[in-house]
Amino acid sequence: MFATSSDILKWADSQHVAIGGFNVYNFEGIKAVIEGAEEEETPIIIQMHPASLQRGAKPLMAMALEAANLSKVPVSIHLDHVDSLEVVKEGIDFGLQSFMPDGSIHNYQGNVEFTRLCARIIKDNEGFVEGELGRLSGTEDGTTIENYKSLLTDPLQVIDFVSSTTIDALAVCVGNVHGKYLSEPKLDFQRLYRIREATEIPLVMHGASGLPNEIISECIRAGISKFNVNTELRQAYILGMSEAVDQGMSDLISVMNLCIVKMREVVVSKIRQYSFI
Ligand code: 13P
Repeated sequence: MFATSSDILKWADSQHVAIGGFNVYNFEGIKAVIEGAEEEETPIIIQMHPASLQRGAKPLMAMALEAANLSKVPVSIHLDHVDSLEVVKEGIDFGLQSFMPDGSIHNYQGNVEFTRLCARIIKDNEGFVEGELGRLSGTEDGTTIENYKSLLTDPLQVIDFVSSTTIDALAVCVGNVHGKYLSEPKLDFQRLYRIREATEIPLVMHGASGLPNEIISECIRAGISKFNVNTELRQAYILGMSEAVDQGMSDLISVMNLCIVKMREVVVSKIRQYSFI
């Protein structure tokens, strides 16, 4: 059934677990995420990045919404890293309710202004807003932020950022990166605990691919409610394709099914990881 991101995050809070936000690009991705959530009987958030929307546009959103409506578990559909007001408006017109306006490319004041502007429109339509304070490095869907341009979340700015923008959830930068971790991931947990002390709204960790169990559990203890996963799902999809080629598969249904199985395995293992403190 279709659900709102705030209902899903409230559920996570009541169960003392975190939720996965999984990025998808097509039907196989949507199916894998929902099947994984149904297998684990847990709510889930399906996310789409502007790059996947540029390609899939309204048919992709329609497919995700209908799949959410038909699912046995609560599913919300979230637009990730939205960098323009137009995309927010298009999503709202289409019936979406959950957005991450990403103003992290701007300086602090620019970020506040962009996020607040988007939040006003989203909230006028009873939607949910995730904002990012700081700037994550790494690569996602063709966009690369170099390490030296990244910014950790400043705990001293959190109260002002949350109240000025009226966001419902805060994406934090504490050493997490989009894409592959080039060395062993090291997160600044002291900073994360200070952010948690500064606000009660749910905290979100982008770049959750590649984080080992102990780090995930510590993040949940420190107050992370939502983990965003893209890279590991994409890798699973590509692995499915290459195995299909190696096995000489020629019918497309079998190839698609193999890709779904590979992605579903990732979804299930992440849901289990996020339920364990
Ligand atoms: P990864 O690609 O590192 O999993 O990050 C995904 C993400 O943060 C989506 O917003």
